[in-house]
Amino acid sequence: MSTSDLESAADVARPLDAGPHAALRAKFPLLESCVYLNSNSTGAVPRDVEHVLARYWETLRTWRDDVWQGWLEGLGRYADSVATLIGAPPGSVVTDANLSTLLARVASCFDYRPPRDRVVTTDLEFPTVPFVWNAFRRYGARLDVVGTGGPRFDEDALERHIDERTLLVCVPHASFSSGATLDLARLVRRAHDVGALVVVDAFQTVGVVPLDVAALGVDVVLGGSHKWLCGVGTAFLYVRPDLVGDLEPAATGWQAGDRAMTFQPSTGWAAGAQRFAGGTPYPLTSLASQVGLDLLAGVGMPAIRAHSLACTQRIIDRAEAAGIPVVSPTEPHRRGGVVCLDVPDGEAVKRRLAERNLVCSWRGYLRVGPHVYNTLEEIDEFMDALESERRGGDDR
Ligand SMILES: Cc1ncc(COP(=O)(O)O)c(C=O)c1O
Repeated sequence: MSTSDLESAADVARPLDAGPHAALRAKFPLLESCVYLNSNSTGAVPRDVEHVLARYWETLRTWRDDVWQGWLEGLGRYADSVATLIGAPPGSVVTDANLSTLLARVASCFDYRPPRDRVVTTDLEFPTVPFVWNAFRRYGARLDVVGTGGPRFDEDALERHIDERTLLVCVPHASFSSGATLDLARLVRRAHDVGALVVVDAFQTVGVVPLDVAALGVDVVLGGSHKWLCGVGTAFLYVRPDLVGDLEPAATGWQAGDRAMTFQPSTGWAAGAQRFAGGTPYPLTSLASQVGLDLLAGVGMPAIRAHSLACTQRIIDRAEAAGIPVVSPTEPHRRGGVVCLDVPDGEAVKRRLAERNLVCSWRGYLRVGPHVYNTLEEIDEFMDALESERRGGDDR
């Protein structure tokens, strides 16, 4: 059975049991004030983050330099927790402020020399991805953007564009604009067959769609905490452990060196993914993000995915019944955590829904992003209001 078959076999829609679900919901104060269906943009953050913030202030108030030891352990613990969630070994993930920084650091590892100088990507990337790669044209990178102009990936075209001239394939696991997912197993197979590496932007899946990086054999995975991981302001980078030794980032900093904590000049690289670190790390966001990650790990990715599919299916069923065009793929194994709807005057509709405390986002389409803490009843309430707004707000 291939990885993609395994992924589809796991695509069962089943809401969490009511008791544990209510207990989980109670941990997210944001849910008390609105119907929050915006996790594809910014996820809800658990109440216990308040304790982390209070401890952090206490640490600053009573400052001593040896605090750093505990902070570094906290940073390492968060990175290893992300690793566990994506099926990676400890030490294979490093964190930094955002995905853009980490992607540029990866990009800085390569010499873009013909004949292997191409970076194959798609037209469904979050804007930072083409922006970073365009900047690397200066160093010889040749960008090959494969697109359909539509909401889905053209995997056949993508496969055709990957050949012996391809250095890197940089794609999302799911599109931020349509929610469509990509068959990574097929892509990795094709890329590795011709000697190319695969870099995946998994910001829109990690935390809501299972991802097993070791089973896939994918080379590099990036993502972040503030959407589906219920965290705040930190991003992560996984690099395949047997590849790390071949990569030397030019965009770097002293924390990537083998003697960082001796404050002597380093002559080599730190072990594992730590060689992709930069300067002085910022621990607060990892410490705060640990709380949400632990909650998700406690539920487990298969149960989260099953709950998510039940929620997204309800959105699709209600939209189809109401005649609202669904932009996202409707097949379970082809959709991520968000359902995009084509609603005329969508931005204004989003604003009017927000006035009713029904929160979603708009990026050309109305994006409805339920997470493990949402209920089917909330989705019905949202869809009732959406239908009403399409009729001009007749129930206001
Ligand atoms: C797919 C995807 N990639 C990247 C980002 C963000 O990148 P960065 O952390 O650099 O802001 C987002 C959303 O914010 C996203 O949806």
